[in-house]
Amino acid sequence: MTANKNDYVVIFDSTLRDAEQSPGASLNVPEKVEIAHQLARLGVDVIEAGFPVSSPVQFEGVQRIAREVHGPVIAGLARTVKKDIDAAVDALKDAERWRIHTFTSTSPVHMEHMLKMTPDVVLAKAVEAVKHAVSLTPDVEFSGQDATRSDRKFLVEIIQAVIEAGATTINIPDTVGYGIPEEFGDLIAFLMANVPNIQKVTISTHCHNDLGLAVANSLAGVLNGARQIECTINGLGERAGNASLEECVMTIRTRRDQFKCDTHINTQEIYRTSQLVSRLMGLEVQVNKAIVGANAFAHESGVHQDGFLKERTTYEIMKPEDVGVPRSKIVLGRHSGRHGFKVRCQELGFELTEEQLTEMYAKFIDLADKKKEIFDEDIIAILDDAMPRAGECFKLDYMQCTSGTGIPSATVRIIREGKDELLESAHGDGPVDAVYNAISKATGMDVTLENYSIRAVTGSTDALGEAMVRIRDDKRVYAGRGVSTDIIEASAKAYINALNHAAARQRNSKKQK
Ligand code: KIV
Ligand code: ZN
Repeated sequence: MTANKNDYVVIFDSTLRDAEQSPGASLNVPEKVEIAHQLARLGVDVIEAGFPVSSPVQFEGVQRIAREVHGPVIAGLARTVKKDIDAAVDALKDAERWRIHTFTSTSPVHMEHMLKMTPDVVLAKAVEAVKHAVSLTPDVEFSGQDATRSDRKFLVEIIQAVIEAGATTINIPDTVGYGIPEEFGDLIAFLMANVPNIQKVTISTHCHNDLGLAVANSLAGVLNGARQIECTINGLGERAGNASLEECVMTIRTRRDQFKCDTHINTQEIYRTSQLVSRLMGLEVQVNKAIVGANAFAHESGVHQDGFLKERTTYEIMKPEDVGVPRSKIVLGRHSGRHGFKVRCQELGFELTEEQLTEMYAKFIDLADKKKEIFDEDIIAILDDAMPRAGECFKLDYMQCTSGTGIPSATVRIIREGKDELLESAHGDGPVDAVYNAISKATGMDVTLENYSIRAVTGSTDALGEAMVRIRDDKRVYAGRGVSTDIIEASAKAYINALNHAAARQRNSKKQK
């Protein structure tokens, strides 16, 4: 039997577009490219790389991904406006395969208050935009924002018209997360039955999670004929987020008996992708998050443990290794050689150059001297933390702090742009506060600390500490993460990581002016 389009659900990842819009989640261009490479390894069919017309960083991110990332179709977002479509084409045109994703709003409330257009004008502009896009690429997706609160008759009309104009994918967004599964599934079934030319296109879902129903709604769409899901890693996205890629994919895979279809996702890359996105966006994964949370495969109660030990399937419907969750066993120690370390890094998905290997091995030995047992999570944490990141403005070179019964104080030396040495000292309410004050003085960055947290990467007191911060400048929130066996150093690194995000954004908005 040959596979036909109904056997597979297209996975359209919007982590770099919808999720990147969420507060604190902004990424610099090298980080976007790094995530896009990992999404390609994960096997997503489409990467929505950004909204090219919206800013120079967005344009450059889409362009670099289009040029450098192979495998998936690369999509760029555009309103139903010629200049948006032209900007998207300019950014995308070097990709192996690319798609224009053009959208407008179709609900009465959006058309009246936001677009200030009548339905006739909205429809005419949509058709004009799709025709323009189709003249430039055969792969054109159309979205009717707020479809779940739109008039069904108007939806049928506009969808029929844009298909006639050449659209190849029709996306049905639940933009405000208002739908419930039965109703959303019914909307897809209704469109399948009432749009005369619907068989020519792929129907897609794009569900937000305001009521916690994004995954359930997307899957109800699939059960009723949708064959593309727009989703994001860790369910990140505007407000409460989008449908989580890992939950949609693993539900379809685990309950193939119900869905009678599959995806092209290499599920063993799920965990690593989730960790990478969490780290680069600085947004922690909640511990009980399905599939990728720290507790997703932990069996705590005696009854569960007893059953699980007798027969895994009593309490486990998926295996952790199916989604690439590391086995948490001791893998290496201070006597491990460079070769063993290199092989373990490769198994964990890190391809190091000889130079990087030398640097990372030194860090590993340093950690092994401080910490008795080294787990996969430790290796991932030091590699993630120490791998050089292009586009960083500030780097912590030296840090000294004192605390105790006196007034805490700190001195830091920071290297700016790889050359200028910035040395400063400051006092604070505690050691972290003193270090942060010294860093702020040295960098001259005017930001407010909104949130600070610290956790141990693995269990014991000799564990690596991971600090997460959120800072705000006058426009946006930026996140940062740092790792070290010394929690003050981890905190300093996290702060500097967030400052680097803010500096990159500020540099780009200056360029734009
Ligand atoms: O939520 C939404 O409606 C969107 C569209 C641009 C597809 O993100
Ligand atoms: Zn959205």
